Amino acid sequence: MCRPSLQLLFLPLLLLLLLGLLLRRGAQGKPSPDVGPHGQARVHQATPLSDAPHDDAHGNFQYDHEAFLGREVAKEFDQLTPEESQARLGRIVDRMDRAGDGDGLVSLAELRSWIAHTQQRHIRDSVSAAWDTYDTDRDGRVGWEELRNATYGHYAPGEEFHDVEDAEAYKKMLARDERRFRVADQDGDSMATREELTAFLHPEEFPHMRDIVIAETLEDLDKDKDGYVQVEEYIADLYSEEPGQEEPAWVQTERQQFRDFRDLNKDGRLDGSEVGYWVLPPSQDQPLVEANHLLHESDTDKDGQLSKAEILQNWNMFVGSQATNYGEDLTRHHDEL
Ligand SMILES: *[C@@H]1O[C@H](CO)[C@@H](O)[C@H](O)[C@H]1NC(C)=O
Repeated sequence: MCRPSLQLLFLPLLLLLLLGLLLRRGAQGKPSPDVGPHGQARVHQATPLSDAPHDDAHGNFQYDHEAFLGREVAKEFDQLTPEESQARLGRIVDRMDRAGDGDGLVSLAELRSWIAHTQQRHIRDSVSAAWDTYDTDRDGRVGWEELRNATYGHYAPGEEFHDVEDAEAYKKMLARDERRFRVADQDGDSMATREELTAFLHPEEFPHMRDIVIAETLEDLDKDKDGYVQVEEYIADLYSEEPGQEEPAWVQTERQQFRDFRDLNKDGRLDGSEVGYWVLPPSQDQPLVEANHLLHESDTDKDGQLSKAEILQNWNMFVGSQATNYGEDLTRHHDEL
């Protein structure tokens, strides 16, 4: 069942939003009434290691490849022959070990820090792509005005939106973006550094962005402005009642979710800290989970560490190649029979 608000949205929500806005402005189409973060994804997931399903049981190691190499490099490996792929993997094993204690074996900690490093590189790359869009004067800084102009078009400060239908919605989003930018811009110079733009785009990665994310969510949901989210406000964000229609089962389930998992102190409403627990859930250490998995699956002699030989024996789990994909296709075909 597809519940609009709780779908896991893996791209930074804001980028999608901005793209949507740009397209809408370009196309002069009808803005939908709930344009914006509304109803798209409330929960700010920590940046995932991969969007592919973790489906090792069916010989599909794409998740592991992307977690271990990053999406771009994983694609490069797919172009290699098995021999080239293994040779490159061998060099990565040396680097993982050298970055740690250099004892010739890859420990869980070394594997974890390699995967965490890969994940951080992915975040950096996504911010770099945004940077190229926003730093329009190419001076190595992204000013709030630059970001605003690149996103919302060239209006003078205070000027009304005039060529869009839902000017009010745009105004709200602009105000919200500006406020988030001000919080991300920790030194208050109205210029974002890479780090500050990262906080703006990936607030879930930064403790100092927590309050603003909670405030944004509360503002969206707390229609009666009493500072809390009641169950009806929570449901209204997900589903609009059709007169004379019975409430679908998934909405009933959401009501139960609210009672069982969101309203932690059982007072019938969500306060800021309960909203925070919901939209910025304490994230598990994904690199550690993946490192444990790779280690467990490849540690043939069960000594708790991986030798280069063990990794190379299981090379198609860590990295791919065209030949591997060919093998996977055969497996898939076999499964369908
Ligand atoms: C943004 O657009 C406004 C209106 O065209 C212009 O006055 C301002 O100089 C622009 N700012 C930047 C930083 O490009």
